[in-house]
Amino acid sequence: MIEFKNVSKIYNENSFALKEINFQIVKGEFVSIVGQSGAGKSTLLKMIFAEEKPTEGSILIKGRNISKIKSDKMPILRRHIGVVFQDFKLLYGKTVFENVAFAMEVSGKTDNEIKDDVPQVLEIVGLTNKTSSYVNELSGGEKQRVSIARALVHRPDIIIADEPTGNLDLVNTWDIVQLLMKINQYGTTVVLATHNREIVNLISRRVITIEKGRVSRDQQDKGKYLI
Ligand SMILES: Nc1ncnc2c1ncn2[C@@H]1O[C@H](COP(=O)(O)OP(=O)(O)O)[C@@H](O)[C@H]1O
Ligand SMILES: [Mg+2]
Repeated sequence: MIEFKNVSKIYNENSFALKEINFQIVKGEFVSIVGQSGAGKSTLLKMIFAEEKPTEGSILIKGRNISKIKSDKMPILRRHIGVVFQDFKLLYGKTVFENVAFAMEVSGKTDNEIKDDVPQVLEIVGLTNKTSSYVNELSGGEKQRVSIARALVHRPDIIIADEPTGNLDLVNTWDIVQLLMKINQYGTTVVLATHNREIVNLISRRVITIEKGRVSRDQQDKGKYLI
């Protein structure tokens, strides 16, 4: 599903972010990427959805090499990958429904498709009763659920979550992690970057540890946060 072959990323001569990264993630895995701030977690995730390109090496998504992907091919890739961020990146003057609908409109979906699909994803994330609420009226955990709903509308094969619980309290953090685990149980591959030790240990699945831009450990199952 996702393969990194000898991937290095150098932003500029003073800043090499990742060095000779190799791993393979197969369909249905739940992978936590852990490491301290500045280790290279966000850079690694950005390369999966081609927000950044590798300086060296190659990245394969579903067998396709995206290392030098052209911008006109980007929308096809992005349809397979849903992305969730720490700061939600929602449209605050709009309702929950409109936020999710907007993601479908920009990819050319019809009004009927939107009417059918938005309630379905809102149900998955447990926000049916907030459909008409404005996003700025929601709690942090609810905002993150909206952004997960938006990431799900294209029925992606992969969900990438970069510190999705970074702005949340303990209860909401666990709530969001459980939602990601539920989505994973439906078959979606999940890649979660976090420096939250407790949740990584509770998830107890594969853990890839990044230290100073290198993979220092790759625990295939029952992984723990060990740095
Ligand atoms: N756009 C950028 N330009 C230059 N350096 C960057 C850029 N983005 C990240 N870096 C550097 O790359 C390294 C890894 O950053 P990042 O991937 O954001 O780490 P993490 O997400 O683990 O905190 C850091 O040294 C950071 O300063
Ligand atoms: Mg980061």
